[in-house]
Formats: sequence, C-alpha cells, structure tokens
Amino acid sequence: MTRLMKQTGLLLIVLLLVLTVGLVRGQNQLFIRSPYLGLDSNPNSSVAVSWKTAEPFVGVIDYATRNDYETSGEFTTTLNVPAESGSNKHVYHALFTGLVSNTEYAYRVELKDAGGNTVATSALGHFWTAAPALDHFTFAVYGDTRTFPKRHRMVIEAMEKDKPRFIVHTGDLVEFGGVDELWDNNFFWAAAPLIKDAPLLTVLGNHEQNSPQYYAGFILPPGAGQGKKEWWSINYGVVHLVGLDTNALTLPHGFTRMREQIEWLKEDLVKARADGAKFIFVFFHHPVFSSDISYYPGNTGLRTLWHPIFVKYGVNVVFSGHCHQYERLVEDGVNYIVTGGGGAPLGGFVATPLPGSIKRASELHYMRVTIDVDTATIEMIPVAKVEGNNVIPLSQKPADVLVIHGK
Ligand SMILES: [Fe+2]
Repeated sequence: MTRLMKQTGLLLIVLLLVLTVGLVRGQNQLFIRSPYLGLDSNPNSSVAVSWKTAEPFVGVIDYATRNDYETSGEFTTTLNVPAESGSNKHVYHALFTGLVSNTEYAYRVELKDAGGNTVATSALGHFWTAAPALDHFTFAVYGDTRTFPKRHRMVIEAMEKDKPRFIVHTGDLVEFGGVDELWDNNFFWAAAPLIKDAPLLTVLGNHEQNSPQYYAGFILPPGAGQGKKEWWSINYGVVHLVGLDTNALTLPHGFTRMREQIEWLKEDLVKARADGAKFIFVFFHHPVFSSDISYYPGNTGLRTLWHPIFVKYGVNVVFSGHCHQYERLVEDGVNYIVTGGGGAPLGGFVATPLPGSIKRASELHYMRVTIDVDTATIEMIPVAKVEGNNVIPLSQKPADVLVIHGK
C-alpha cells in the first residue's frame, strides 16, 4: 500500500512538472519577442518598451523604482496597452514616462486575452534613467550580429556582465531585413537577455535592406529621414550620440536624402557643442577608413562627405561595422573604431594596413565605453576566436584601450 502511494505520488509530481513546463512554454510562445527596451527623446524621464506577440493581446505593464519594488514586493504604476494598438504583425511599443532621473526601475509585461485573463507574463526587467549632467556610467557598442545567433548570444552574455546603461548596434543586425523569422528567432532571441535591461540604439546596415521590419521594430531617438528614424541623435548625460545612415545614397532619392542628412548632421553637432556635450560619439555602418581585406581602404565617397565634418566639429569617436573584425584608427585627430564582431563570419586584413591603423583583431568582441567625469575609456573586449567551425572563448580582458578626455 505504502509502495503504491509512493508510486502514485511520484507519478503526480512528474505529471505536475510536465504540465508546468508545458504551461510556461505555452506562455513564452505568446511572446514572439519578449520585452525589449529603447530610448526616445528624453532618457532622463522616459524609456520605451516593445514586444511582439503571436496574435493581438492587451499588454499590461507594471513598474516601480527597483527600490520600491524590492521593499514592498509590489509595482506602483500600471500602464494598459490596447490589443488593437500593435502593428499588423503585433509589434507593440509603450513608454514609461514621468520617471525620476538617474534611478533604477523594475518592470514586467503581462498579456491578457479578451476576457481579461492573464495568458503570459514576461520575466522581470530592470533599467536606469539618465540625468542631464550624468558623467559616470558604462555603455556598450557592437555590430554585425547576422549569421550566427549562438555566437551573437555569447557576445550578449559577455556584455551583460558590465550592466551597460544602454547598448548601440552599428548595423547588419540580421541577414535579410525583410524576413520576420530572422528578426524574431535570430536577432531578438540572441539579444533578449540583455535588451530587456539595456535600451538598444541601432543604425541601418546594408543587410537591413531598409525594410519595414526595421522601422516597425525599434523606438529610436528623435531624428529625420525615413520615418524620422533613418538618422537620429540623443544626449545621455554628458555624452552626445549620433546615428547615421550610410545606405542613404543607394536608396530612392539618394542625393536628396544624403544632402538632408549632412545638413541635419552639421546643425546637430553645432547644437551638441553649444549645449555643453563633453563627448560626441557617432555611429554608422560602412566604415570610412578600413584595412579589411575586402573593403580596403573603406568607403571613400562617404569619407569625402563626412570626415571633414567630424574633424571640424570635434567628433571624439566614430564607431562603424560592416567589416567583421576590430580595427582602431586615428585620422586627423578623429578616432575611428570598426566593431563588426557580433556574430557574422570573421574577416581578415590587407598585408599593409592604412597608415592611421593602430590596432586590429579578427575576433568576436564588443566595445565597453566607460564615462568617468572628464574621461572616456573605450575598451575592446574579446569574447571568442573562431578556428574552422570551432568557437573558442577568450578571456574577456581588454585587448585594446583608448582613453580620451572630454571638452
Ligand atoms: Fe554590412
């Protein structure tokens, strides 16, 4: 009898486990993309959250300062997002607003069906707000994550350890920008653990193909061009960040787009300096200087158009991707960093690099940028090397360090 009871009890436990796992898996499947963060106009008081579902659901967002949440176990604010407010592919966006500056928040997103029943609950996420003069924080930069999502995930897991305030992607997020599954199952799958906690800023690579999926997928800072998000800028504490589109000339009305972008850029940089930015960092996809074996010497057309502007307005660092490697150069006082080691097949270098080339590595990696008062420390963090099909983890100790002083 006792033995029968034990066996029945064991069977019940196994059944419960199977049911629980099934329930959790079923819930997770309703989030095609689990919640991910973005920045709009004012990171001091608002942060954007996005998600994608299998079908229309009401989104209920609960949030509180991390301190309040962990003290009381409860959220203080709830935001309801109507089921019909999503895109035709059920991508939803919402804004946390009225936030306290330089404060950490906790949040989660629940999905509710038409009857008001909760059908899925996201993992708990956390994020920080900025402050106008914030001068002590870390962010990360990487690029070219297409092709190998598991390698992309390795880079994400390395970046997570730094707890970056936000991350910037230099383009080529996916192999083909028009294919939903590549966004959902590759890019967002790989990046999910980090972008639920760190807002993602990004620029267009050639592989995004200027697709509707790119424009529908991200909340980006105020900008201009297509959808007012083809190029953008934002102040985060003492740092001014600018994202540009290097594909503009290849798109319809390319010359007009490029002319508008250049005029916008000049005005933006003048305003940034007038507003007291200590550091100006610019991000775009195709490098204007490169010793890559198949892209040497970089995009000379864009170099002619943009490099004199970066010199004139004192841009501190330009980050690009496209070439699947790391390279750091200095040209006329402007630091250029190519960071294309996020998961695409790695590439090599020409035998005689450009005269301004200082450091090169063909490794999976990301850039850690640490702002500390008047100093920005920019470190290349190696994550893995690839030999044949073997991905060999590296130490994640900085392999190159650039220290710059703010104005
Ligand atoms: Fe590219």
